[in-house]
Amino acid sequence: MRRPLVAGNWKMYTIPAAASELAARIKLDAKSRDLADIAVFPPYLCIPAVVKTLEGSGVEVGAQDMFWEQEGAYTGAISARMIAGSGCSMVLIGHSERRSYFGETDERVLKKTKAALSEGLKPIVCIGESLEQREAGITESVLRTQLIEGIGAINDIGSVTIAYEPVWAIGTGKTATPDQADQTHKYIRGLIAGRWGDKVSRNIRILYGGSVKPDNARSLWEREDIDGFLVGGASLKADSFRDIIDSVK
Ligand code: PGA
Repeated sequence: MRRPLVAGNWKMYTIPAAASELAARIKLDAKSRDLADIAVFPPYLCIPAVVKTLEGSGVEVGAQDMFWEQEGAYTGAISARMIAGSGCSMVLIGHSERRSYFGETDERVLKKTKAALSEGLKPIVCIGESLEQREAGITESVLRTQLIEGIGAINDIGSVTIAYEPVWAIGTGKTATPDQADQTHKYIRGLIAGRWGDKVSRNIRILYGGSVKPDNARSLWEREDIDGFLVGGASLKADSFRDIIDSVK
């Protein structure tokens, strides 16, 4: 049985006081929750406040990106060690916004994922095709490349979660239909089976992300191969995040 995960990506929103307030509301909402894992990904500067607020709540905290070196003269960079040392247990890697605005590549995704695992962080590796790629009929080959170039060289991916996020659905209000998403998740699970074997592919979580909202989460969640969500916009309001969490029961 794969345990569902609902993760909130706060992107470049909130300052520490507001982040802590949002976390406090999520904490109350999450109190009685034992059916799904819940995680939030605040901006780096808000992590200490959020970790403090969520202490003992069972809600996990992660960072939105990281650098692969442990430490050194890398001005502006944040390492997996710093993230883990700040009380985080997870990290997002390869988000499409990192790929399109900050030069993220599959090669870097591999280095970051290895470094995250070596510090005991659980990475969520994000993959997804653009609208042009989908329209050109190359979705599968794009995903194969991102997955295999991204993490194919890692033998033990037991603590990795994959997030499938079609770029055309992120922040646009357009969601993949449950059929589209499930079909793509099945394809990804098949790729995983081919590289890591059936057992790994049966156990690994594949999240869907891209305009997940309280009103579409349920129909996506009902699909066999969708194991939870990576939520952007709707995770910034405690009420809608709670409703999405409730839909995975
Ligand atoms: P969205 O973002 O829910 O606002 O579309 C999802 C994401 O980028 O992870």
